[in-house]
This record gives sequence, structure tokens and C-alpha cells, in this order.
Amino acid sequence: MSITGAALILFLTFHVLMNAVAIVWPTAYNTICQLLGANWYALVASMGLAALFVLHIVYAFILTLQNRKARGNDRYNVTTLPPHVEWSSNNMLVLGIVVVAFLVAHMIQFWAKMQLVEALSHDPATWAHVDGAAANPAMGTLFLHAAFNEVWTPIVYIIGFVALWFHMNHGFWSMFQTAGWNNDTWLPRLKKIACCWTTIVVGLFTIQAVWFTIEAKNNSYLNNEDLQAQYFEAYTEMMGEAQENIQAQAMEIQISDASDVEKEAKFMELQAAFDAKMGIIQTAIKTYCKDIPQVKAWIQQEEAQKAMQALPEEMPMEELEEVDTTNVQPQN
Ligand code: HEM
Repeated sequence: MSITGAALILFLTFHVLMNAVAIVWPTAYNTICQLLGANWYALVASMGLAALFVLHIVYAFILTLQNRKARGNDRYNVTTLPPHVEWSSNNMLVLGIVVVAFLVAHMIQFWAKMQLVEALSHDPATWAHVDGAAANPAMGTLFLHAAFNEVWTPIVYIIGFVALWFHMNHGFWSMFQTAGWNNDTWLPRLKKIACCWTTIVVGLFTIQAVWFTIEAKNNSYLNNEDLQAQYFEAYTEMMGEAQENIQAQAMEIQISDASDVEKEAKFMELQAAFDAKMGIIQTAIKTYCKDIPQVKAWIQQEEAQKAMQALPEEMPMEELEEVDTTNVQPQN
């Protein structure tokens, strides 16, 4: 229990520091997400982490069952705690269950839409939608926007953090106790270190949840110009890759032994898949990069084209020229 617990405390310390980057430098946070993403080393680390969680939970249940067995039918004979036994010590399993419940919601909001999606496919059709467009799984700030825009997110997170504080604080010093460091000099010191470390980590998580909620409600992760430029780069890079791919696949079809009719069918299929992919990427660019000058010009051009198409076909040009524009104010 103590080894898995220690590793989980180190993970949480790393995690809270990584989240802090999203506050001070959001584009750098996305770069870290891109680096970790679904690369083999990140996947191996995630699997190791999942194994640690599973081992920790399995041991927790075994330990609880052993304790109950040892106490037999006298489980509830003593209902008041001796003064030296902390409340959290007797409620570690329940606190752990609350943390796991938080974790399930957390994994659905982030990991399942980021690393898992990226590991399973590079097709933007499979990506989660944020603000009506397909969010690139490496752009963590888009998922912060989606998650913390939900009213329930900060509430569930803060309940999870309270349980985490008690669970981690008790687990921290009791893991040293298990390792044999339970003399009268060290135990009080370890309890103090545990309390400080836990309060810093969980306190930072709480500040982050509040910060991300404010930023999400202000649409900061959608309107920040540096982030828009980063999203633009990520999506245009994908467009380039898609173009290279279609050219390579078209070449393969071209030199294959298939008949002309079969080749034609394959070309059409390839073109349809390419168009669908480009459509998804273009919608994402228009949604997430709307203030980039090229994108702005493109959106305006499309709107103008749409307006032209919406004009009634039978309206004679003379009528258009006769429209009185003297009172129309120029727009900024
Ligand atoms: C404000 C609080 C938090 C935020 C904003 C946050 C954010 C994130 C994000 C964005 C990811 C996805 C990374 C990726 O898949 O690329 C993630 C993963 C994860 N988070 Fe959190 N997190 C928070 C608190 C916590 C807490 C308190 C725990 C544990 C009790 C936790 C456990 C995890 C785990 C286990 C993963 C999966 C890591 C992996 O796949 O390697 N997170 N978190």
C-alpha cells in the first residue's frame, strides 16, 4: 500500500505542477500535452499509473476485509474513537471511494477525450466536440474550456479535493509508519510534513479549479490570440498531412493493377474521405482561430458569398442600383 501510495503522491505533485503551467503559460501547457500525448513513453507511463491505482485499490479492499475479519462480530462494540485515532484513519476506504468517483468523472472529461482518442485514431471525425467543432486532443486548453464551463465541474472537483486532502494526509505519514519510521521523534515531524505537502498540493488543485472555471466562463481559452495562433498551427499542420496522405494514396491507386473503373471508384472514395476530413478541420479553424487575420478574411469572404447566393435570383440589377444607401452608416 505504502509503495503504491508514495508513487501516487509523486504523480499528484507532478500533475499539479503541470496544471500550474496552464495558468502561467497556456500555450506551453498545450506544448507539454502535445509532447506527452499518445507517444509510446506517455502510454507506458499511463499504463504504469493505472496499474498503481488498481494495486492501491485492491490492497485497500484486502486490508479492510482483513481488519473486519480480525475484529469479527465485535466490529461495532466500540463506537467512540480513542483520542489519538484520527477521523480519516477510520474512514480511509470511504474517502478513497469518493476520490475514485471524482477520478472517474475526471477521466471521462479529460483522458478519454485526449490521450485515449489520440491513441485510437488520427481521424478528426472521432474527436470530441468543444464549442461545436472537433477539438484537437493535444490542445489541452480546449478541454479545460469544455470541462470547466459545466456548472457541476468545480462542485464535484472540490468535493473530490476535500476527500483527497484527508486521504492523502493520512496516507502520507502512515506510509512511513508502515515502513517502520514510527518513533516518537519522527512521527510528529512526518505528520507535519504530510500536512504541509498535502495542503500545498490539494490547495493548488483547488486554486486551479477556480482559476480554470473563471477562464472558461470568460471564454479566455477561445479568445486568447496566442492560443488561437497555436490552434491554427496545429490544424494547418493536419491539413498539410492530409494532403500528403491523399497524394500518396492516389499514387498507390494509380500504379495498382486495378481496372480503370475500380480505380475511378477508389479515387472517388478517397476524395470523399479527404473532403470530409477537410470539412471538419475547416470548421475547427473557423471556430477556434476566428481572430487570425487570414481566417477572419476567409470567414468574411464566405459570408459575402452566402449573402450573394441568398439574393433572390429574379431581382433585376436595376432594382439593386436603385436602393437608397444615403442613410447607411459605415461599419467599423
Ligand atoms: C484542477 C484539477 C485538475 C485538472 C485541471 C486536471 C487536468 C487533467 C488533464 C488535462 C488530464 C489529461 C492529460 C492527457 O490525457 O493528456 C489529466 C489526466 C489525469 N488526471 Fe488530472 N487534473 C486535475 C486534478 C486531478 C486529481 C486531483 C487527480 C487524482 C486524484 C487527477 C488524476 C489524473 C489522472 C490519473 C490522469 C491520467 C494521467 C495519464 O493518463 O497519464 N487529476 N488531468
